[in-house]
Amino acid sequence: MRTGSIVAIATLTLLTAACGKSEKAAPVASAPAPTEAEKQALLASFPAPYNTADVANGQAKFALCQSCHTITPGGANMTGPNLHGVFGKMSASNPDFKYSDALKAAGWVWDADKLNQWLEKPQTFLPGTKMSFAGLNDAKDRVDLIAWLMVETGHKP
Ligand code: HEC
Repeated sequence: MRTGSIVAIATLTLLTAACGKSEKAAPVASAPAPTEAEKQALLASFPAPYNTADVANGQAKFALCQSCHTITPGGANMTGPNLHGVFGKMSASNPDFKYSDALKAAGWVWDADKLNQWLEKPQTFLPGTKMSFAGLNDAKDRVDLIAWLMVETGHKP
């Protein structure tokens, strides 16, 4: 486990060095954007296997989602709802988005494991959903993407 965390932190450090964008524009919402150090601490606090995820790969996999979803605070709803703060929230609870009846009736709270099941094949996991996304087959890709999303959408463990 320790080795895993060190690898994760090393990956993050590399990432930070590579993109050097710790100074981002202030988001619309009141809370200041987390620093890179805060993001690293957050990642390390996740339960396994998310704490050792390859967040750089997770970020790359978000390319599959971003035609339909924003993740920034106060970001627009597009084909899919804005996902900021989605972890720990009730499904279908974005007041400005028109969800399918299926997701409105689902009544679960989004956590890492729920999202993991959802992303494998949304239409099988929840028949009737209007999220037309074929699914992410690779289990490691899902873990990496979810860990990155938890960090970037302001998950509070
Ligand atoms: C083609 C557009 C599209 C793509 C691509 C897509 N989504 Fe969605 N997503 C939607 C729609 C539409 C909904 C609403 C589903 C419903 O109401 O049944 C949704 C719902 C969701 C929800 C539930 C939000 C809530 O408020 O309950 C999550 C979480 C989510 N998507 C994550 C993802 C992730 C992560 C990816 C990338 C792997 C992704 N989506 C790819 C369109 C998309």
